[in-house]
Amino acid sequence: MRFKDKIAIVTGSSQGIGKATAIALAKQGAKVVINGRNADKLAKVEGHIKTITPNVLSIVGDVSDKVVAKNLIDEAVAHFGKLDILINNVGISMRGDVADLAPRVYETVFKANVMGKIYPTINALPHLRRSQGSVVFISSLAGIRGLPTLSAYSSSKMALRAITESIRIEEKQNKVHVGLVYVAVTKIEKNKVALASDGSEVVLKDRSERNVQSTEQVASSILKNISARKYVTVLSALGKINYYMQRAAPWLVERIILANLSKFKDQSE
Ligand SMILES: NC(=O)c1ccc[n+]([C@@H]2O[C@H](COP(=O)([O-])OP(=O)(O)OC[C@H]3O[C@@H](n4cnc5c(N)ncnc54)[C@H](OP(=O)(O)O)[C@@H]3O)[C@@H](O)[C@H]2O)c1
Repeated sequence: MRFKDKIAIVTGSSQGIGKATAIALAKQGAKVVINGRNADKLAKVEGHIKTITPNVLSIVGDVSDKVVAKNLIDEAVAHFGKLDILINNVGISMRGDVADLAPRVYETVFKANVMGKIYPTINALPHLRRSQGSVVFISSLAGIRGLPTLSAYSSSKMALRAITESIRIEEKQNKVHVGLVYVAVTKIEKNKVALASDGSEVVLKDRSERNVQSTEQVASSILKNISARKYVTVLSALGKINYYMQRAAPWLVERIILANLSKFKDQSE
């Protein structure tokens, strides 16, 4: 019961990594606030968490809307009386070379992946100062370096590095923990979508047969990041190698990517 009576918000928790993280927190004694735009999907997750704890609150809404994001934090604090943990999980990916991208791909990705994380954070920080709590940002291995066909996604995830570096220094005296979790390729739900180069949504290929991390493994690493009050957590062996190689020999990483370019070209991978 590492998180007994901690109040935790997980944005984008009606499926995937966010859902697994909310469930893991509930199992560890936390009171959880779950969020997503689709009320039916969120209600199913609430029903599941209620089999673990009665202390779950659903707040439907798009966190990339600043009014909705403020309301999420205000409602959570009004309901549970305080806030200890904010996990900024919402994120959308995309596929396509820069030359082929409809400009709205960048707009949509940055709105969700950057504004959808910074709006909840701005509103949560006064509460996290009081509780000396944690704010965690879910990034991706694509945030370690710019990857082909993933430029909008990579750059939105790289922005999280700068945001967290700033907050770490700004909030040091307030003892707010800031975490940045670089997630590797993970199992996905059947309906997970990404944006194609024309801005339309494509359902990503099934990964159930692939040897990639489960959402539960990722959730467990996120919880470890919080309980150890670590800054950076990089997931998977490949992720750790990539993280250090990008610093030591970026030219070599570029060569390896060039040699494997075809793997990046399938828009539904
Ligand atoms: N899966 C991977 O392989 C992988 C790898 C690296 C990093 N990541 C990162 O991990 C995070 C979660 O990924 P995932 O694969 O679990 O995603 P996912 O399956 O697409 O789930 C996204 C969740 O966020 C909600 N959501 C999306 N946009 C929202 C918004 N604007 N406001 C509120 N809720 C919103 C979705 O529900 P609604 O649609 O109902 O709103 C859903 O519950 C993302 O930041 C992603 O970039 C994932």
